[in-house]
Amino acid sequence: MAHISTKKEFRDYTQGDVIAAVRENYRKMRTNQTYDYVQRMRKKYLTYDRPLDLWDAIRSLNDLIDVSDPDLDLPNVQHLIQTAEAIRADNRPDWMQLVGLIHDLGKAMYRWGSDEDGTSQKEQWGTVGDVFIVGCRLPETCVYSEFNTLNQDMHDPRYNTELGIYSEGCGIDNTYLAWGHDEYFYQVLNNHAENKLPEEAMIMIRYHSFYPWHTGDSYAHITNAKDDRYKIWIKDFNKYDLYTKSPQVFELDDVVDYYRPIAEKYLGAGPIFF
Ligand SMILES: [Fe+2]
Ligand SMILES: [Fe+2]
Repeated sequence: MAHISTKKEFRDYTQGDVIAAVRENYRKMRTNQTYDYVQRMRKKYLTYDRPLDLWDAIRSLNDLIDVSDPDLDLPNVQHLIQTAEAIRADNRPDWMQLVGLIHDLGKAMYRWGSDEDGTSQKEQWGTVGDVFIVGCRLPETCVYSEFNTLNQDMHDPRYNTELGIYSEGCGIDNTYLAWGHDEYFYQVLNNHAENKLPEEAMIMIRYHSFYPWHTGDSYAHITNAKDDRYKIWIKDFNKYDLYTKSPQVFELDDVVDYYRPIAEKYLGAGPIFF
């Protein structure tokens, strides 16, 4: 079972030598993730024409270390197993355990991504990191908010007001978030005919990196009562996503027999089209 640390501070962006890389990823992300960029990435990547076996997709994260995460320098597959095992240890529902195991699979995008889009192994600013809404003003609750002004949309009157292109209380489902692994995998599952995951699971996958909202409490003019319900689910999931990171190494082969029937129950046995 994953060890839940109580001593270490997580998401500390001020200590240690990984910080330069984390900060640089955020500088590029804040600079490049404009409304137009997000529309281009949606068109380019939401094609659902790459069939992937679920377990191959999970294994492929063996080769990816998330540069945005100051707490984890292990391959991402370890983070997936640690998260799932912690949810399982708390006897939470089977679908939530599965969410732990798959929530970051959008990062598999690095296999067909490019440096230019920030979706490769080397350039990850279009794949990982806390996301924000594009099309309206960037809030001060963004990590490294000093980079907000580097985003050209913040100098465009269409996009730099509190509401921007959105209407009051329209809800986060009706906004565009910065492009990354959350939205990508949410859309992939949404398009997957055999998907039987409950709404809570889909919301956990879609919004787990949306820190300026779920932790920063920004975007009060855009969110509505439905989003307040979402926030309870996200916070419930987030403690497992965040506080289970430990050096303990699992083998996927040791847990696959337990998770396979759950995966087949909610996603079927066939490939998932990325
Ligand atoms: Fe994530
Ligand atoms: Fe995660």
